[in-house]
Amino acid sequence: MFTRLIFVAFLLVAPFTSAQTPVPDAQSHGWWRHAVFYEVYPRSFADSNNDGIGDLKGIESKLGYLQKLGVDAIWITPCYPSPQVDFGYDVSDYENIDPMYGTLADFDHLAAAAKKRHIRIIMDFVINHTSEQHPWFLDSKSSKTAEHRDWYIWRDGKDPGLPPSNWISGFGGSTWKLDPTTGQYYYHYFATAQPDLNWRNPAVEKAMFDVTRFWYKHGVSGFRLDAVDLLFEDPDLHDNPVLEGKNEMGDAKTLEKYNDKLPENHDVLRRLRKVADESDAVLVGETYTESAAELKEYYGDHNDEIQLPMDFMFCTLDKLSAPEFRKQIAIAESTGGWPTYVISNHDMQRSYVRYGDGKHNDQIAKLMAALYLTLRGTPVMYYGEELGMTNTDPTRKEDVKDPMGLTGWPGYKGRDGERTPMQWNDGPNAGFTKGTPWLPVPPSYKTYNVASESSDPNSILEFYRRVLALRHRDPALLNGDYLAVNENDPNVLSFLRRDQNEAVLVVLNMSGSTQQVSFDLAQAGFAAAKVKTLLTTLDTAPRGRLDKVSLEPFAVYIAKLTKE
Ligand code: GLC
Repeated sequence: MFTRLIFVAFLLVAPFTSAQTPVPDAQSHGWWRHAVFYEVYPRSFADSNNDGIGDLKGIESKLGYLQKLGVDAIWITPCYPSPQVDFGYDVSDYENIDPMYGTLADFDHLAAAAKKRHIRIIMDFVINHTSEQHPWFLDSKSSKTAEHRDWYIWRDGKDPGLPPSNWISGFGGSTWKLDPTTGQYYYHYFATAQPDLNWRNPAVEKAMFDVTRFWYKHGVSGFRLDAVDLLFEDPDLHDNPVLEGKNEMGDAKTLEKYNDKLPENHDVLRRLRKVADESDAVLVGETYTESAAELKEYYGDHNDEIQLPMDFMFCTLDKLSAPEFRKQIAIAESTGGWPTYVISNHDMQRSYVRYGDGKHNDQIAKLMAALYLTLRGTPVMYYGEELGMTNTDPTRKEDVKDPMGLTGWPGYKGRDGERTPMQWNDGPNAGFTKGTPWLPVPPSYKTYNVASESSDPNSILEFYRRVLALRHRDPALLNGDYLAVNENDPNVLSFLRRDQNEAVLVVLNMSGSTQQVSFDLAQAGFAAAKVKTLLTTLDTAPRGRLDKVSLEPFAVYIAKLTKE
């Protein structure tokens, strides 16, 4: 159901065609605070040579689209040479581009083109492990005395036939694989084809930091740090406590006490950050934290670690619940750091499905956009989210591509469903390729695609463009603080972003029924304020008063308040 979109302050919003010219920040905050990030999964974004797999030239051809959308930085998931066991997260050369995606020259071309459009590029840094085909590992496994032996984690088994510890791989089974050449086991948190680097070895650190320097020279503005929780393991290999039940891969559940988020991580991060600071670069973390304290640690005691640790506690809140989101935002705010909000990525079911109720999915997609794109913090979007792309999971095991899906089948179908081709138009293969796409295009592409949604003022895409335009130009959305209001409302999430004499009020009905709300903003310092609707999905926007606001199911109401 598309609700009619009344865009009262349309004229106030910057035209969507212009570049997102960087907004000067009075507090001289890092550029990444005002940037909107957008994750591009290169295999699935745009295919320029029609081999069914997206590529760098494809991405370059879509920069205009991204600029118009309001994207300031793209994070490209791994496009380095790789055997593609985990679709690029198994890197065999950190300083090149996989031929399936193009060449280093294509990358430089893309970087230059993006710069012209004020779009920065963030690379994915697969920092925890390499491919088993990386020359470092090939050497490492060749003999116990090889130069690179200690670049990975090799151990004897506990007993004949018993791995060194009970640690369980995220991809199923033990984290240890016996290698016949030397009779020792190597450690792999993910697939066996992804051996973990030994971050206790300074030579590893040097080589990996040099990788970041290499890409900074190629114009990159930062890195998303893959699996950064997992850099270190207990050197004594204590067994992890075993919990009750099984995980989704069918293994015993364990508490990853000895191989997840070890304190040594932070020393590496501080040093990595120093290198980043030399290039005014940003570090974005794939940080799976479970508490405010853990999230806070990632910023560093002196804000000297990760600038943008992604808040997966927010992201994995699957229920559309005002109290739950309120609580999670409060947790993010309580860290004192600059929050980083994400609602979908290449590892989790798309937000359109996770939050959708099957009836109001389009409206809910807009509501989620209005939520995380107006919060205080930096948002990281996922390609296609702005269209309302849905998950299309494989229905037969023989169609599964994701290694996790292959192990987890049928209980867990893997991540192919959220990685399907970007939907550009309603033509063959949604305009992604003229060849055979590596994953099937969801049937929804006929209506949910860039071309169709661009010409529909009520589309999810147009709604994203409007929210993003607002967020780029409104000082309160850029710099204002966050203040929860009507905190006891079980259905409607409301908050203010306050900046001196102005504020933006965001009101989101997270329920499927009509809600009446009223606001008394005296305590918030906005007792007598001029109210002007900025963006709403309501048929009838409140006129100048906030004492009686009626909200349709899943309605969004965003207003500007100016002290009289
Ligand atoms: C991260 C990536 C995921 C990958 C894993 C192993 O979690 O996001 O896609 O499979 O690391 O590199």
